[in-house]
Amino acid sequence: MKQRLLFLGPPGVGKGTQAQQLAARRKLLHLSTGDLLRSEVAAGSDLGREAEAVMARGELVSDALVLAIVRNRLENHAAGWLLDGFPRNTAQAAALGELLEELQQQIELVVLMELDDDLLLQRLLSRGRTDDNETVIRHRLEVYQAQTAPLIAHYRNLGLLESVEASGTVEQIAERIEALVG
Ligand code: AP5
Repeated sequence: MKQRLLFLGPPGVGKGTQAQQLAARRKLLHLSTGDLLRSEVAAGSDLGREAEAVMARGELVSDALVLAIVRNRLENHAAGWLLDGFPRNTAQAAALGELLEELQQQIELVVLMELDDDLLLQRLLSRGRTDDNETVIRHRLEVYQAQTAPLIAHYRNLGLLESVEASGTVEQIAERIEALVG
């Protein structure tokens, strides 16, 4: 069974939904940078105040801030983990590579979830989080294409990437992912 995983894919594709369930089934640490940033915003911390406006615009929060959060969690958790929403650009991927080398840990599988933009938009509009209005969603999709999608080739070249069609029910998609995790 693979137990050091990354979930990659556009906003609304279902990374959080699948990651949370898989982590619970396999007893892995689920590390969602989006959830962690939203907790900081809710707590009104300095970090949260810095992140709030950036998130509301659909831009990426600074690499330094996100990396500090991830380092802290991974240093204290050598067993299995599942990263969701991180890394988000090539600088974060390089920093993660260095951190994992330092911790003598390795990514075992990158799951790329794929879905048409129209369906992504529908899913996000029906959820209605504060950054789920049409203008911001479209901007998040542009940021994904420009900054995150280059990671697909990066992890494919490392021989770690597997794609999953993210249409259908939550259960159907979970079965596809389970087959990859082994
Ligand atoms: P983040 O929280 O990571 O949001 P995202 O990538 O935009 O992804 P979403 O949470 O919107 O979608 P998801 O793929 O997890 O789908 P979900 O399961 O929720 O990031 C938010 C912001 O934080 C960023 O814009 C940025 O500012 C900042 N940030 C986060 N990480 C960062 C980083 N590393 N660096 C810099 N900044 C960072 O599902 C979506 C909806 O669809 C839900 O309502 C769900 O119930 C529904 N759904 C799921 N599966 C199905 C299905 N099969 N059928 C029908 N509906 C479904």
